[in-house]
Amino acid sequence: MEKIKTIGVLTSGGDAPGMNAAIRSVVRTAKFNDIKVMGVRKGYNGLINGDIFEMTSRSVSDTLQRGGTILQTARCKEFSTPEGVKKGAQLARIFGIDALVVIGGDGSFRGARELSAEGIPSIGIPATIDNDIGCTEYCIGFDTALNTAKDAIDKLRDTATSHERSSVVQVMGHNAGYIALYVAIACGAEVVIIPENEYCFETDVLRPIIEGKHRGKSHFLVIVAEGAGDVFPMAEEIERTTKIATTATILGHIQRGGSPTIQDRLVASEMGFTAVEALLQGEINRLVVVKNNKVTHICMDEGFDIKKSISEDVVRLAKVMSW
Ligand code: F6P
Repeated sequence: MEKIKTIGVLTSGGDAPGMNAAIRSVVRTAKFNDIKVMGVRKGYNGLINGDIFEMTSRSVSDTLQRGGTILQTARCKEFSTPEGVKKGAQLARIFGIDALVVIGGDGSFRGARELSAEGIPSIGIPATIDNDIGCTEYCIGFDTALNTAKDAIDKLRDTATSHERSSVVQVMGHNAGYIALYVAIACGAEVVIIPENEYCFETDVLRPIIEGKHRGKSHFLVIVAEGAGDVFPMAEEIERTTKIATTATILGHIQRGGSPTIQDRLVASEMGFTAVEALLQGEINRLVVVKNNKVTHICMDEGFDIKKSISEDVVRLAKVMSW
């Protein structure tokens, strides 16, 4: 492969706090190495439509601490078709992009793999608050989302304790229970429901509350991952059965915003740096990952085959801590 002179960068899929820190790192590492950088707006949509502009080190000044993504993001249907990918590759060539850094989740990486097959070497940086990308121990945004959820749930707990009420709180995670499980432990939930594990409402939700009442508990926190059930009927049924006043709250997209935590800024900085260094060393079609607590990169195809699952030990920890 010829020496890379120009790198493109885009963010795709759901935004995640720390994406800006990753963009900044990509841009600055490239500029430090005298490489031209082209920013692509609104994910693959921008690539297909040529919404592409040159970035300098100053384009990313004052962005490290900002949530969201300065490049904006989108979920692009057209890019899931072979024609869309071909169009994207053509536009990348027209704008002189020799290699592309894609910051996003699983779906975004599939796009990167297709682009690579069309002759635009791509490298992925994992960023999703769901932390559900199989090949990496950590995804940018997860820690910030956890902290945002923790702040909100602690507040709900204050008022629930004062009134001896129960709270049923829905956190994000359509297919993934990482946010739910981790905040359940960190915020002292009595019950946590995640999409990965089947549950029975009577025995897994109502029973621990009734038993907890007998052990002297007077208010209860139930955390439900988005994909695991509707919190409003749950709250009604809990109130009807336990006779404890119960509220339902959906935290929603609030978990996707906000200034990234130190952890997300550091990981994002290291991942952006690693992605560009890998490209400059001729390593293409890779995914940047955290493996054994270290940022590194692996082959994209192998990365897709790695699945991760919720640890039963962590599920047990959540249960024991609720006793
Ligand atoms: O992938 C991150 C995520 O926040 C999921 O937890 C959630 O199900 C989904 O995105 C929501 O997507 P949208 O912003 O398109 O509603």
